[in-house]
Amino acid sequence: LFKDFLYFPQIDSTNNYVKENQENLKSATVVYAERQNAGRGRLGRSWTDLEKGVKMSIFLRLEVIDIEKVVPLTLFTGLIVNRVLRKYKVQSFIKWSNDILLNGKKVCGILTELSGEIEGAGNVIIGIGLNVNAASLPDELLEIATTLKKEIGMDFDRTKIIIEILKEFENELENFKKYGFSHFRDEYKSYCINLGREIIINGEKKAFCKDIGQNGELICVQEGREIKIQTGEVTIRW
Ligand code: BTN
Repeated sequence: LFKDFLYFPQIDSTNNYVKENQENLKSATVVYAERQNAGRGRLGRSWTDLEKGVKMSIFLRLEVIDIEKVVPLTLFTGLIVNRVLRKYKVQSFIKWSNDILLNGKKVCGILTELSGEIEGAGNVIIGIGLNVNAASLPDELLEIATTLKKEIGMDFDRTKIIIEILKEFENELENFKKYGFSHFRDEYKSYCINLGREIIINGEKKAFCKDIGQNGELICVQEGREIKIQTGEVTIRW
């Protein structure tokens, strides 16, 4: 699947690079950076650049049929990263929609962006930021984020992790294209920490999470009514 692997010692953001150069990139190109000075997170946030991490973007050109699956594609990617971490015996969990948590703190974030839409087809950029071997974090992140090294107490081989993620992604992409998110739903649910808990949506309304839908939507009960939350629209905490 993966055609080109571009490596940058330093860049603003791998997602930006793909966005700016998508005309010239082959589908299934991976852009990897050792450091980012303007890494972006979801909901317009920035992504703090920690040393010795994994920061990469997967670029895919998708056909019309696939475009509808872009939202669940980001959940799919989270599941793949979680699966790889589990292979390393890391006790990670998924916080809907696609944060990976370790001991309750965020260890990986995913930013999926759609761009360059041409008559229904489109380009998708999946940015993955995984905190691996940094021994410490800035004070303001200590409560909410962590690294594999901090939690497990050892260094990880980042090259191996990248290869595992890309291999797993490639192996499962056909299933995802064929069957969509529903093929992965049981596995996703078994690691999703939101189920059976209350969440706060956009800082105000409380809701009880009871299920994950066939397309990855979060199904909650709020004031006796069932509501479905689609990814990308909300911030949640508990
Ligand atoms: C989140 O807010 O949880 C998503 C964070 C995504 C960070 C990654 S790092 C590689 C890629 N390039 C970026 O600028 N962002 C993503």
